[in-house]
Order: sequence, then structure tokens, then C-alpha cells
Amino acid sequence: MTGPVVIGSERSEAGLPAAMAVLAAGGSALDAVEAGLRRCEDNLADHYVGTGGLPNAQGVVELDASLMIGSSRAFGAVGAVKGFPNPISIARAVLEKLPQHNLLVGSGAELFAEENGFARSELLTEESKALFRSALQPSAESVEGERTAAQAGDERYRESALELVNRFAPHDGPWGTINILALDSAGELVVGVSTSGYPWKYPGRVGDSAVPGAGNYADLRWGGAACTGRGELSMRTLGARAIVADLARGLDPFEACLAMLAEAATLPDEFRAELRCLALTPDGRHGAAAGQDGSVYVVMTQSSTEPEFHPRKVL
Ligand code: GLY
Repeated sequence: MTGPVVIGSERSEAGLPAAMAVLAAGGSALDAVEAGLRRCEDNLADHYVGTGGLPNAQGVVELDASLMIGSSRAFGAVGAVKGFPNPISIARAVLEKLPQHNLLVGSGAELFAEENGFARSELLTEESKALFRSALQPSAESVEGERTAAQAGDERYRESALELVNRFAPHDGPWGTINILALDSAGELVVGVSTSGYPWKYPGRVGDSAVPGAGNYADLRWGGAACTGRGELSMRTLGARAIVADLARGLDPFEACLAMLAEAATLPDEFRAELRCLALTPDGRHGAAAGQDGSVYVVMTQSSTEPEFHPRKVL
């Protein structure tokens, strides 16, 4: 054990200093991960988590988030939650106050959030609304023949929405879910994940971020792991669990992450298949992998003055 450490995916740098401040003060990994991810969820410049996240195909922001504790393998998650800016805190409330369950979705998760005093807010910002509208511009040649303007408009909308869903087009620049993994000075390891999921997803779609073993897994005996990118692939491979199983077999965090990506690459899948993952062991070793050159993950230890960017290994 090397002392507290926190690692995260691309864009977690908005939250890692808050997470490390909790750990440096002797706080718990659970508090650290929640604090870090809340900062990311509140970051309006980030269009893939929390407020400002890109909406589903109906123009509504739906959020997924989860937390897993390494020592107990307790898991709390919410999926497809609308109208609450900090799903990671609702996931924590599920974990702590509803131990008979792991995952609440949709209206049930919203009822639970209301009952537990979480405040509602509008999550679609003017900027994300503009991105949504511009992305749904129909192509000029998509309609022919005699139809009413309303029918033609409906058709164009459906065609362009379907085309968008099919290619899951992310915007230029860093994008995707945020993972934060923390190891505290008491030796506890916690993994947290938060996301607005794929932009223009089918309403009600829940991704790997809310599913134990898929986007998030922690087992204090071996380590924790989390995924970003096309959640359907990590759901079909149980990616985070597979990484932890490989840590248990003695692979180092980089090797375990690469093995998971190699397995996911064997899946037939016609959509944009970008998947990334990262892992942290109970003795503070970490690693990450991606399918693209130039991908990074972010690390802070007690001696860090700012988030440090480390290269991911490329499959
Ligand atoms: N990995 C995030 C998602 O698929 O929603």
C-alpha cells in the first residue's frame, strides 16, 4: 500500500483534485469518489455527464451512475434518471439506504431520489440543446413524393434520428462516461461511474455504467476496474468483472485492461466500437487501455500538485 491514490478516465481531471482533497484529509474512498464525480457532473462544459449532458432521441437528458465498494462488494446504481443533476449521490443513497436492492431505474429511481430529498433541476442547457438540434438537422434529399409537410417532417426526423442512433456520433474532443477509482489510507477501494450515456440513445436505454460487472466492478482482494465508451460491448463481455478476474489471475492492470479490450474486439458489432478501461489494485498499481493512440487516464497521489496524465496502452 503506497498511500491514497485516485485515478480517472479522460475529463475526470475536473473532479480528481476534489477527490484527492478528501483522501489527503484522511477521508474515505467512498466520499472521495462521490465528491470527484459530483464536480464532473456539475461541469457544464462536459456534455457526457450530469447537467449539460447530451439528451436521448426525444431531447431528454437521462443519466446512469454507480458506486461499488471493494471490501463488501456492495453496489448501488441508478439508470435512466431524469431531472436530477447528481446521479452519483442517488446511487450512493441506493447503496446505503436500500441494501436489499442494487439498481433503480427511471420513475422508480426518481421517486427514490425525491423521497430522499434530492433536488430536481433542468439538465438540458442551452448549449446541449443547440448541439441536439444541430445534430438532428435532416438531410435535404431524404424526402420525395407527395406527402403533407407534417408527414414529410416526421419522416425526415425519424430517418435522421435513426441514422444518428446508428452511428452514435460523438462530437470532436474528449467525450464519454467518467470513471473515478479511489484507494484510501484505510485501504478501502471504491469505483464510481457517471454518464449521460450515448447521445440520442433510445429513451430508457441503460448502459454499462449502471450495471455491476459491466462498467464498474470492485473487489478489495484484487482491485477495481471501470469502462467508458460503447457500453453495450462491456455489458456483453462483463468487462469490468473480467479485468478484476484477470488481476486475480496475476495479470498487471495494463495487461488485464488489454485482455478485456481484446475480448470485446471479438464481438460482432456494427456500431462505433470505441471502448476504454482502467484498473487500480489494492496496493496502488494502476493501468488503462484504449483502442486509439494518444488516449490518456488521469492520476493523483498525495504528492500531486495537479492531475497527472498517463498514457493508456493501445490494443
Ligand atoms: N459507457 C457508457 C454508456 O454506454 O452509456
